[in-house]
Amino acid sequence: MTNDINTTFNLGGELAVNRLGYGAMRLTGQPGNFGPYPKWDDGKALLQRAVELGVNFFDSARAYGPEWADKIIADALHPYAENVVIATKGGVDKFAPDQIVTDGLPATLTRQIDQALVNLRVELIDLFQLHRVDPKVAIEESVGAIEAARQAGKVRLIGLSNIDRTNLDRAMSIAPIASVQNRFNQAEEAQSDLVDYTAEHGIAFIPYGPLGAHPMKQGAALPAQEALAWLLRRSPNIVVIPGTTSIGHLEENVRTWDLV
Ligand SMILES: NC(=O)c1ccc[n+]([C@@H]2O[C@H](COP(=O)([O-])OP(=O)(O)OC[C@H]3O[C@@H](n4cnc5c(N)ncnc54)[C@H](OP(=O)(O)O)[C@@H]3O)[C@@H](O)[C@H]2O)c1
Repeated sequence: MTNDINTTFNLGGELAVNRLGYGAMRLTGQPGNFGPYPKWDDGKALLQRAVELGVNFFDSARAYGPEWADKIIADALHPYAENVVIATKGGVDKFAPDQIVTDGLPATLTRQIDQALVNLRVELIDLFQLHRVDPKVAIEESVGAIEAARQAGKVRLIGLSNIDRTNLDRAMSIAPIASVQNRFNQAEEAQSDLVDYTAEHGIAFIPYGPLGAHPMKQGAALPAQEALAWLLRRSPNIVVIPGTTSIGHLEENVRTWDLV
């Protein structure tokens, strides 16, 4: 690794995370990331191994399971080590493997935040991300509900996912935004401007599908470590969250730092 590359990013200027994190979407039932992960104990062991390897940023969402990804994280990692940061999301729910519902109403988000507190077994959610903008609800209203939860001491930092520049600016006008999570990888660079824009504002950019998972078949040809290394080199505000169900792949992914 070259000396001028930071291995950590300060989320919201206050929570230092290893820029090589872990995405928990696949620790759920298949197909459709629906239901509990069938190999529950293996999933727990994988999460614990990640912490042993120095991973301290875990990305989850209400929609993963739904709720099951949050629950396996808590089962594996609670009580959390002091430096472990858990991110979850709300505003998208799932009622069947192929039935995904976007609901950004303030009352829904408020209820989901309360449920995430229970599922993650915390009194304060480190990072709560709006999973997707609900086209029926002004983003100010959705983010306003998360901001109210922040003011009430239930959420520490606010993030946004699947967001464009216009909505990001609107959200930033009513609350501090710590992270943006959008699809981005070497094979699909449409978000390049937003990576730079978030960097200028001290906002983490969390690319999903970093390894070119379906439907980004083009990216799948890239060896995993090279794909991750490219992202980590691309900008110091990038925090990657490769998803894996294999401890071998996890170990390989963490070794990416040797290449960067
Ligand atoms: N905000 C959003 O809308 C959104 C959408 C999608 C995903 N996400 C987040 O992003 C995270 C990552 O996305 P993703 O899981 O779709 O895609 P990904 O991380 O790009 O790819 C995961 C796939 O790559 C494989 N893999 C992982 N490490 C590997 C390695 N070293 N060598 C070979 N194959 C490897 C995994 O299989 P194995 O299990 O066999 O390792 C899995 O099939 C998710 O967990 C979730 O947290 C967010």
